[in-house]
Amino acid sequence: MTDLLDKETDFSNMIDARLSRRSFLMGTAAVGAGAFLALNPVAKAIAANIDSKLLNFMQVPASTSDTVIVPKGYSISNLMSWGDPIFTNAPAFNANGKQDSTAQAMQFGDNTDGMSVFPLSKDHAILAVNNEYTNYEYLFDHQGKAMTADDVKKAQAALGVTVVELVRKDGKWIMDPKGKVNRRITANTEMHVTGPAAGHDLLKTKADPTGKKVLGTINNCSNGHTPWGTYLTCEENFNGFFGAEEEVALDDNYKRYGVEATQSKYQWHNFDERFDLAKNPNEPNRFGWIVEIDPKDPTSTPLKRTALGRFKHENAAFVINDDGHAVVYLGDDERGEHIYKFVSKHKYQAGNDSTNRQLLEEGTLYVAKFNMHADKLEGDGEWIELTYGKNGLTKENGFNSQAEVMIFARKAATQVSATTMDRPEWIAVHPDNKHVFCTLTNNKNRGVKEGQDVGGPNPRAENHYGQIVRWMPTNGNHADNTFKWDLYLIAGNPTVHKGDLYAGSANINEDNMFNSPDGIGFDKAGRLWIQTDGNYSNEGDFAGQGNNQMLCGDPMTGEVRRFLTGPIGSEVTGLTFSEDQKTMFVGIQHPSGHFPAGGDNKPRSTIVAITKDDGGVVGS
Ligand code: FEO
Ligand code: CA
Ligand code: CA
Repeated sequence: MTDLLDKETDFSNMIDARLSRRSFLMGTAAVGAGAFLALNPVAKAIAANIDSKLLNFMQVPASTSDTVIVPKGYSISNLMSWGDPIFTNAPAFNANGKQDSTAQAMQFGDNTDGMSVFPLSKDHAILAVNNEYTNYEYLFDHQGKAMTADDVKKAQAALGVTVVELVRKDGKWIMDPKGKVNRRITANTEMHVTGPAAGHDLLKTKADPTGKKVLGTINNCSNGHTPWGTYLTCEENFNGFFGAEEEVALDDNYKRYGVEATQSKYQWHNFDERFDLAKNPNEPNRFGWIVEIDPKDPTSTPLKRTALGRFKHENAAFVINDDGHAVVYLGDDERGEHIYKFVSKHKYQAGNDSTNRQLLEEGTLYVAKFNMHADKLEGDGEWIELTYGKNGLTKENGFNSQAEVMIFARKAATQVSATTMDRPEWIAVHPDNKHVFCTLTNNKNRGVKEGQDVGGPNPRAENHYGQIVRWMPTNGNHADNTFKWDLYLIAGNPTVHKGDLYAGSANINEDNMFNSPDGIGFDKAGRLWIQTDGNYSNEGDFAGQGNNQMLCGDPMTGEVRRFLTGPIGSEVTGLTFSEDQKTMFVGIQHPSGHFPAGGDNKPRSTIVAITKDDGGVVGS
């Protein structure tokens, strides 16, 4: 046995017995591409035709068509499209782009993204879904060229969160406009701020001298949910909604979050002074948070949870640790930003949800540091605490309180030398509760910009394909400060590149290749669903990869199969299941052809429902 294999054994000894040892060998080979591909055990498994027992569907080919394609034996239906009325008294969608803000506030928002189903009974459920942003070219007949105050209100009503009831009739889930909990949460819905930054001077504005009452949530990207039945929506690229007509002196804390005193393409600042940086320079500090929503109570006030830090939140992967602490893994989607972990101060108590509802109020935020081992695609790492007074988070370094550490979490992460990553998107915890996966979608700055060196879980310069990193907390304890990591897959193009890491890892081949993994999630059986938001030119480095898509991976064998292809221009993002796992809901965001109605129709972001024709569990 070589040294390399000895190391593999050390690594696998820590793995829960339920997962095959083979799955964790993948990242252990040397970075030298030939060695990586030759020694990769997943490659051996595939070469030996060891088929996944988990994946029981026929792969679909890459596609450039303007439809959603799923495997033979599966069907899709449209659950809900942008503009669909979600109340009985709401107007029907009109594609003319002339409907006003009042109409949009009663209709499904635009650009569907992360979502969660909250089951009520076998055939009745609540769906909470994010509406990330809006496309002016489709929202307005003038395409944003002649904005009015009501147009800004309409745009503000097109994003946020939509909560609706779903019912299953004759085996098919439909949205119920009569649902008692149906609700739109928009950029103007009142929310309360909780946790260490609540009431801090940096959160106070003319309209809110308390610094505890914010209007709205914006750029709601992906999501999470808690065992006490609340929905977590994640504020991502909030900076894009702020602007100014005049020059405003903004310090590095604004720059780090991309907040600029320029013309914002959304033009909100021209009609709503909250978004004018000259008038309300603290307003951007009130966005970039995780927001907790009770989907069962349409009168409840959403809560901005500042203990989970302020950055461009992608999703919130929630797990109850064996010791009872609530742990939330969080990605910050920007080139060279970081992966975080929140650990609650108090413990989860089954059956005591009134107490559990306070768990995200108080806790400790950590940021990940991945240790690099030369020429290895695996290693160890540690979580570094972001607590005022510790690890250099002191006055000398520009931090005056825990509130400031949370408001400027990115700066705190840099202060403690956290690892810069290739754009952390979604994080998902395997149902065994011991293994965590995170998509690193791509990063053109890797190896180009200072501080973004090639190595560790970010092994390629100018990475335009992306990879999925996986870590295993020491002893399966998510509250532990150390972990081991490897790469579950490295996306690439083996028809364009040969013999190097740009060809992808050995579980990527010319039939299943893709770029830019983004949304991920596990079903109850442990299938890893992988959605893409990448380059769909189908040319050059991306030749043969087709439109954005959804794949399914087996964490045990490493096998990855394409399950769905999206329509032209779309990103596939957002996934959740009915409780019986017989329906999978998938989001088709910003299609640019004519999906879903076809013909000459305007494209509309749409949630599709996927079922197996034999009535079985999706993927089985
Ligand atoms: Fe909204 Fe990082 O995707
Ligand atoms: Ca995303
Ligand atoms: Ca993305």
